[in-house]
Amino acid sequence: MWQFYIITSTLIVLIVNVDSLNNDNICVQSNETSTCKGIRLMTDMPAAISESARIVYLQGAIDSLSFKTFPNRIFEDPSWRNVFTLTLSDFKFVTQIEQHAFAGLENLKSLSILRFVSLREINSNAFDTTPILKKLDLSFNPALSFSEVANAITEKVPHLDHLSLVGLNKQSIVPYVIGSTFKAALANKRLTYLDMSNANFASLDKEIIMNVFMNLRFLNLSFTIMAWMPAHLDGSMPELETLDLSYCLYAPRLDLENRNKKKSNKNKLGHNLSSLKYLYVNGLKQFDNFRSRNGITLEPGWLNPSLEYFELRESDIRVINVTILGRLDKFRKLDMSNGEFEFISPKFFSYFAPMKTLMLGGNRLGKMEHMMEFHELLSHLHQLEWLNLDDNELTFVPKRLFSSNREIKFLDLHANHLNNLKIDIMHLHNLKYLDLSENRLRTLPVEITAALDVVLAKQSSYFVVTSANNISSLKQIRSESHRSEIGRPVHLGDLPDILTVDITGNPLECSCDNLYFVEWISNTRVNLVNRSDLTCHFQEAELTLNKEGVSRLQYHCSKLAVIIVTSISVPVTLLIGLAIVCCLKRRCCRKQSRRPKLAKDSHATYEANIKYIRCDSKRDML
Ligand SMILES: *[C@@H]1O[C@H](CO)[C@@H](O)[C@H](O)[C@H]1NC(C)=O
Ligand SMILES: *[C@@H]1O[C@H](CO)[C@@H](O)[C@H](O)[C@H]1NC(C)=O
Ligand SMILES: *[C@@H]1O[C@H](CO)[C@@H](O)[C@H](O)[C@H]1NC(C)=O
Ligand SMILES: *[C@@H]1O[C@H](CO)[C@@H](O)[C@H](O)[C@H]1NC(C)=O
Ligand SMILES: *[C@@H]1O[C@H](CO)[C@@H](O)[C@H](O)[C@H]1NC(C)=O
Ligand SMILES: *[C@@H]1O[C@H](CO)[C@@H](O)[C@H](O)[C@H]1NC(C)=O
Repeated sequence: MWQFYIITSTLIVLIVNVDSLNNDNICVQSNETSTCKGIRLMTDMPAAISESARIVYLQGAIDSLSFKTFPNRIFEDPSWRNVFTLTLSDFKFVTQIEQHAFAGLENLKSLSILRFVSLREINSNAFDTTPILKKLDLSFNPALSFSEVANAITEKVPHLDHLSLVGLNKQSIVPYVIGSTFKAALANKRLTYLDMSNANFASLDKEIIMNVFMNLRFLNLSFTIMAWMPAHLDGSMPELETLDLSYCLYAPRLDLENRNKKKSNKNKLGHNLSSLKYLYVNGLKQFDNFRSRNGITLEPGWLNPSLEYFELRESDIRVINVTILGRLDKFRKLDMSNGEFEFISPKFFSYFAPMKTLMLGGNRLGKMEHMMEFHELLSHLHQLEWLNLDDNELTFVPKRLFSSNREIKFLDLHANHLNNLKIDIMHLHNLKYLDLSENRLRTLPVEITAALDVVLAKQSSYFVVTSANNISSLKQIRSESHRSEIGRPVHLGDLPDILTVDITGNPLECSCDNLYFVEWISNTRVNLVNRSDLTCHFQEAELTLNKEGVSRLQYHCSKLAVIIVTSISVPVTLLIGLAIVCCLKRRCCRKQSRRPKLAKDSHATYEANIKYIRCDSKRDML
């Protein structure tokens, strides 16, 4: 202990002595915020802070040597009294925080101590002097244990309502079993926010849930291995709005197949979380015997009507074949990306029918593309605005798949195996972004290109034929389309103002048959992503689809047309001429009575001849 005092007092002496040292080189003051980075020694700590500072960041340097104890009374200068938010981070050699370390910060409401990778000890009197502290963040301190935290906050911070313990106790091999100390520490608080994600602890028992969590609005238990005790969850967190149970070792079992119909509803999450709005159950595994014995069932039929957002990403569930009665009236967004889904029944979506966003990218829905259910998959989603169906091994899209989704603004079909596209889109009046990139499309049918032009024309009033001389509107159009080099939108708010279509990464082919498509690419006012880089396969080479390339193709096709026309018409004219001459001659020689029969015969001959010549000319062309 005496060494400890010596070190401390030496440090204090150092602070006093080197007080005159200028800290301006590491501290930056802007408005109410003061940021000091690269603190190596205790002497780098600012002894005083600007009068106007309310929010202060103090960050340790990578080589913050000789800095093992966070000493007491370094914030005692009166200038610290006004600070209400203090963040200390990256003091990686500090192993303990002393008593009264925060003395002087009497108005502190929020304290964060982050990434102190060696921190093991927080003196039980450390928070004595911050009486109105509401928010405490002790995240990413892997050596710190729950009991240490419990000791420091028991009886000390009566107003605490926000506690983050992300990644706590990670250096311990044994998960911390939450016992009476931790329970007692939390029991006299009214926590509304608790993040224990990625922390190393086991067990979460009835008492905790019933008595400690009852005021929670936010609870994050993702990446933990705690054993969930579901039977005690019901009705015990009536205020809970956000619940994250992603990647939990003992995650709830999602009973999407209604296999447990007969069992009691007691073990079902969501049964009585009456305020739940945001639910995250990512990384959910379908088969896990261990879990099905201990775990709980998340059955959609029991999700609360307040639910707005549901994340079920990276699940290994393949089939959701379920009929759920009812509907979540406030639901907005369902994210089922990057899983293994092969079959989802349309009735499942009907339960989430008011949704605006549906993310199904990165699954295997191509496996159900020929089933009747796929045609109806989206038929209940009348308010859908955003749809991801990318990367699903789709080889085709049913013509009327989107017939009920008139509100669609964003439609992502990229990275599938589509080789043609026969879908109805004319009714998608609000479409702003259509992503068809990285498919196997050789062309777009004229129905699609025409529909896109119509949709665009309906959307933008100033595109409706302005006079060709109106320079200002032309300029506007051009600047709009140049703005297109944006990446793929990630939020509804990111959608471009003008209808944008991405057909990059397709093996486009040019021929005289799809000249309309090539001309459309160069003429359309629809904004094509990277239009100037688009190429197509033409005569064993890649033709760039710029004005020059298009005129080359047009020239080629018109030349071809001339050849065809001449190769057919010249011999035909000759023949007809010949026949007329012949006929005239015969007329002179024959009697009038024979004439009708002769005319019939010669007609037949002409036809045969013309057919023959046509075949020939085609062969010539080839
Ligand atoms: C500082 O405050 C002024 C006025 O309140 C504000 O306009 C400015 O953006 C702030 N600057 C910073 C860096 O926060
Ligand atoms: C929960 O914690 C994990 C890991 O710390 C984080 O990635 C996730 O975003 C958190 N969830 C919510 C809803 O904030
Ligand atoms: C849900 O919880 C509330 C509050 O705890 C309770 O009043 C209500 O009866 C519960 N409802 C059901 C269906 O258990
Ligand atoms: C879905 O359930 C119905 C009725 O139970 C059944 O006929 C059908 O084969 C199931 N579909 C799949 C893909 O499992
Ligand atoms: C030209 O276009 C602009 C923008 O659309 C419009 O405001 C203006 O009235 C037009 N001028 C004429 C002469 O048409
Ligand atoms: C568009 O072109 C830019 C620049 O050449 C490139 O960085 C970007 O990846 C391209 N986008 C697509 C979708 O190909």
